[in-house]
Amino acid sequence: MSLLEVKDLKTQFFTRDGVVRAVDGVSFQLDAGETLGIVGESGCGKSVTALSLMRLIPQPPGKITEGSIMFDGQDVLKMDDDDVRGIRGNNIAMIFQDPMTSLNPVLTISRQISEALELHLKMDRSEARRRTVELLELVGIPSAKKRLDDYPHQFSGGMRQRVMIAMALSCNPKLILADEPTTALDVTIQAQVLQILKDLAREFRTAFILITHDLGIVAGMTQRVHVMYAGRIVEKADTGELYANPKMPYTWGLLRSIPRLDEVRKEKLVPIEGLPPDLISPPPGCKFEPRCQYRKEICHEREPDLIPVPNAKPDHEARCWGTQRVPGGGWLVDLDWQSEIGDMAVLEQIKAEVAQVAAEAERATPGDLPPGVSQKEGI
Ligand SMILES: Nc1ncnc2c1ncn2[C@@H]1O[C@H](COP(=O)(O)OP(=O)(O)OP(=O)(O)O)[C@@H](O)[C@H]1O
Ligand code: SF4
Ligand SMILES: [Mg+2]
Repeated sequence: MSLLEVKDLKTQFFTRDGVVRAVDGVSFQLDAGETLGIVGESGCGKSVTALSLMRLIPQPPGKITEGSIMFDGQDVLKMDDDDVRGIRGNNIAMIFQDPMTSLNPVLTISRQISEALELHLKMDRSEARRRTVELLELVGIPSAKKRLDDYPHQFSGGMRQRVMIAMALSCNPKLILADEPTTALDVTIQAQVLQILKDLAREFRTAFILITHDLGIVAGMTQRVHVMYAGRIVEKADTGELYANPKMPYTWGLLRSIPRLDEVRKEKLVPIEGLPPDLISPPPGCKFEPRCQYRKEICHEREPDLIPVPNAKPDHEARCWGTQRVPGGGWLVDLDWQSEIGDMAVLEQIKAEVAQVAAEAERATPGDLPPGVSQKEGI
């Protein structure tokens, strides 16, 4: 049984202008300890997907109108409010882009983490304080003991994000949802924080979903990637497969727009032309059709299903007529990804990072847990 199984999830916002179909039929699953990246441009429904999983959609105007979310064998959409509160922070933890919205500015760092430990793990005060120091040390806060009674504003952005990771890990969750956790940080700090998140999640066998608009970020972080557009998944694959064999023109656009750390890369940054569709009245066929240079009549007329890509690795699926054959041979739409992104130097670097993740995942065996932490207890 999967840890998380999302089926045909639809979340809508009922506004004065009409119904916003923010998440429109999303299905995926995640096993215990598995890592998944959800990637797409602004407004494609990434955060609404994450918030739906934790039943945090503001209602009104929002509502989960269809679908099911099974977490650890329980139907999240059928839980009462107490049960949902129980899984939030305890079984599923969330890390947001801006820690200041999640950290309480009037509580010391120690209080914020200790409180969760006392509440969920029934630790007494001194035990919780001791554990808090350990957690802060794990996420690399220097002189953690001395900083326990500091307030969030006394920490830098990167340090606050580390505190968020410590908080997220404090109750030994089975799943961490990280929604653009490092977007507000500069690139070097971003890399450090992501590394910590990845290492700790692996150490504690925590599954995580990393949400980002930057397809470059997930390369070194997750085993699988789902690409979202207009409230739908449009391509899903193992991370290595997605970079080696991307099928959807929108995915190519995301690959071309990966920001580079150095100047050359900045110059080469090519945003996808045009704007994402209005989710109140999206285009009738393929949602990417108005922006796609390969579009044909069929793309405008009918939306393709998300189906397995022929001659690709298992589990690689795309929602594009270009991966579907006409009866008797050929493709419904001729695509040419080699000429689109085949010469991107950045892809080589990404592929190296992807290979590293696969190798690390293979090396991670039971017994990796830090000293003093049994697998059953976690942290
Ligand atoms: N409270 C709300 N009322 C109306 N529409 C909303 C509300 N919250 C989100 N939406 C709409 O839902 C869609 C999906 O939004 P979402 O926040 O999930 O995007 P995202 O992919 O996380 O984007 P970003 O990268 O900018 O964070 C957007 O069109 C957004 O305008
Ligand atoms: S279905 Fe057509 S319009 Fe949509 S991405 Fe594929 S080729 Fe482009
Ligand atoms: Mg978002």
